[in-house]
Amino acid sequence: MSSTLSLESLAALSLDPQTSPTRTILVEPAVEGRKIGEAQRRAKTVDRLKDWQYIECSLHRMIAGWGRHFTEWSDIATCHRHVWEQSECVRRLRDRLGQFPGAAQSMDAPVSARLERLVNTALLAPSFEDALSGMYQVLMGALCKSYQLYAVSAHPIHDAPTIATLHEVIGFHEQIRLWLREYRRRFPHTIDAAYKAAIEAELRNCADLLEALPLESECAAPVGVNTDFRLPVSPGRPAGSLPGYAIKPYLSADFQDSIEARRLFWAYAYMLEMNLAIDQLRWIYDGHFMPWEFLQDVSRHLWDESRHGDSGYSRLLDFGITIPDIGFPPYEICNGEKSAEKKAGLSIHSLANASGSIAPLSPKEIYDAVFFIGLIAETGHFVVKRQAYDDFLEGGDLESAEMMLFDIIDETTHVQYAHRWLPLLAERAGVDNAGYKERAAKMRQEAQQNHHENLREWAKLPRNAANPDYAKYQELLAIMREKQPLFNEKSCPTRDPLPM
Ligand SMILES: [Fe+2]
Ligand SMILES: [Fe+2]
Repeated sequence: MSSTLSLESLAALSLDPQTSPTRTILVEPAVEGRKIGEAQRRAKTVDRLKDWQYIECSLHRMIAGWGRHFTEWSDIATCHRHVWEQSECVRRLRDRLGQFPGAAQSMDAPVSARLERLVNTALLAPSFEDALSGMYQVLMGALCKSYQLYAVSAHPIHDAPTIATLHEVIGFHEQIRLWLREYRRRFPHTIDAAYKAAIEAELRNCADLLEALPLESECAAPVGVNTDFRLPVSPGRPAGSLPGYAIKPYLSADFQDSIEARRLFWAYAYMLEMNLAIDQLRWIYDGHFMPWEFLQDVSRHLWDESRHGDSGYSRLLDFGITIPDIGFPPYEICNGEKSAEKKAGLSIHSLANASGSIAPLSPKEIYDAVFFIGLIAETGHFVVKRQAYDDFLEGGDLESAEMMLFDIIDETTHVQYAHRWLPLLAERAGVDNAGYKERAAKMRQEAQQNHHENLREWAKLPRNAANPDYAKYQELLAIMREKQPLFNEKSCPTRDPLPM
């Protein structure tokens, strides 16, 4: 059960915080005969904020760490929104911390190793469902209680900015906890008693987060780095994700000449971007060697890609096309099982059913991923996306046009993230980043050439009703045409090919 104070008891406490018995003065008293030291010139709030920030950062990583276990489409998308919201909680605490003198030193200053033991205990849940309860009920509950008690005991005028910050953070957590209530109706679960007791014991060891913890000889490392916690190699997928048909080669082959193919392509390709968001959970969990601002940007990037996935799927659903109809394959196999097997020795089944854990991404691997996504994939697609936007607008499909437009807005920012972070990522990964823009331009050219070679292969694919892949492709086009014909289906000009 939640350990949050009831609203009634909080209302009673907050009637008059200045005279309330819970009123806390946030400066240390002077000691007779002793000079006032630097620490006494600092509000106690600073150390509270540092501890809270550590726990919020830890929850952020924990959500990313466990997030690959979700299997239902809506839960996967919600988890990605939680990653972003949790990063917003951290940002708000950091913003408030930054308003106190000496913020530059205190912002990322060490905190007690007792906090690390607490978050590692919550991280090491016996199961995924236990982890959700441990993170969202037990740990977040204790945090909210800590915020609420602070908010009713701090001076309501002097320290109003901290109180306002905490209310904002509580608001995010309340949304997450409401979501958990709804999730538990679908997936009932009682938290493992020993696991819950272990977190509660660590909470007591941390004074229930009701006061700042003094630094000991050892200070806290990021959650998880001193544990053997690993992410699952094969992320959860909704039922029906394994595609029964390989339609992408046809979509790519017809991309230039058919606006109908382009419309189906973009809804499907956006849906597949959920794969990127799922991958980016690893950037966050394994990216602890980077400054917080990097993780903040990745959180937004991840949430955007998840929204692009959801945009694409919602557009397919507008036409009545569901995941079991079209599949939601990982990128490695979306061009058809055969070609993927040829390329990487993989099969749909080996990929989707692989069990076990995945090794952490090295700094070099994170650098490569940011480089590829930002400078090859995202930079490379702007031209064809803008063309699609114009064509859908002219064809009278405003919903599809709108989907393109919001994606283009997000993608413009994503490319900026890559330029912002590649130099530091390179430094931390020991990679030479010199001439990275030229290197990227060359790689985009190579990707285009590879695509042209693939197109020559795909042009030979059978195009008759007896071929199940082609028949399915035609069926999907017909469903969309029937529901919303495009005015410019005949008049739309030939467009650029896909960049990869
Ligand atoms: Fe995207
Ligand atoms: Fe993007």
